[in-house]
Amino acid sequence: MKRVISIDGPAASGKSSAAKRLAKQLGWGFVNSGEFYRSVTWAMLKSKVDVDIPAAVVEAAGQLSLDGEIVDGLSRVLVDGDVVPVDELSTAEVNDAVSKVARVFEVRDKVVGRLRALADAEPVVMEGRDIGSVVFPETRYKFYVDASEEVRQQRRAAQGLTDQISQRDKADSQRKSSPLKVPDGAVVIDSSEMNLEEVVAAIVERLAEAGFEA
Ligand code: C5P
Repeated sequence: MKRVISIDGPAASGKSSAAKRLAKQLGWGFVNSGEFYRSVTWAMLKSKVDVDIPAAVVEAAGQLSLDGEIVDGLSRVLVDGDVVPVDELSTAEVNDAVSKVARVFEVRDKVVGRLRALADAEPVVMEGRDIGSVVFPETRYKFYVDASEEVRQQRRAAQGLTDQISQRDKADSQRKSSPLKVPDGAVVIDSSEMNLEEVVAAIVERLAEAGFEA
């Protein structure tokens, strides 16, 4: 049986850092599903696909060869056989375009297939927007990490990144295909006034209460 801990939440809520730390602590793989959507977006922008036109995104998605793997406990994405350079995935251009690409069903279908396959190989902590609701709805261990919009804006700014997070959250929550929402049965953690260690400790505590064993 697949072993998955899902951590969903809006942009810059701290879910990624918490998921990574938790995975390391457990000796499980860490999967950043946002990197898959960002990689598809990056590839489409490179090929000059007009991401404002869903039909163009559908066509480009059909031609794209997408793979994922976990190396030394961390996921990485391959497009057309090459590892996608992570430093090109958080640019203002990708941040602006990613929600337009991620709303397209054909893109999601492709990404979800790769994400599910990653959990066949080893137990994973996977973070994203729809991991507990759509990708692994059957997992017993679901979390939703949130934070106030003000705190999330500050966290992004502290990373020196240009990211219209409220626009992305709105687009991600309102889309038809797998919108961002609190998955049924998920434990909600508001990290607004917590540091990373506290968020991870809160997750570990809830896992223990739920009878989790690594
Ligand atoms: O997590 P991150 O902010 O890197 O995700 C980038 C974008 O990818 C999100 O704004 C969303 O549009 C999309 N995404 C998604 N489903 C996921 C993970 C990310 O739609 N599971």
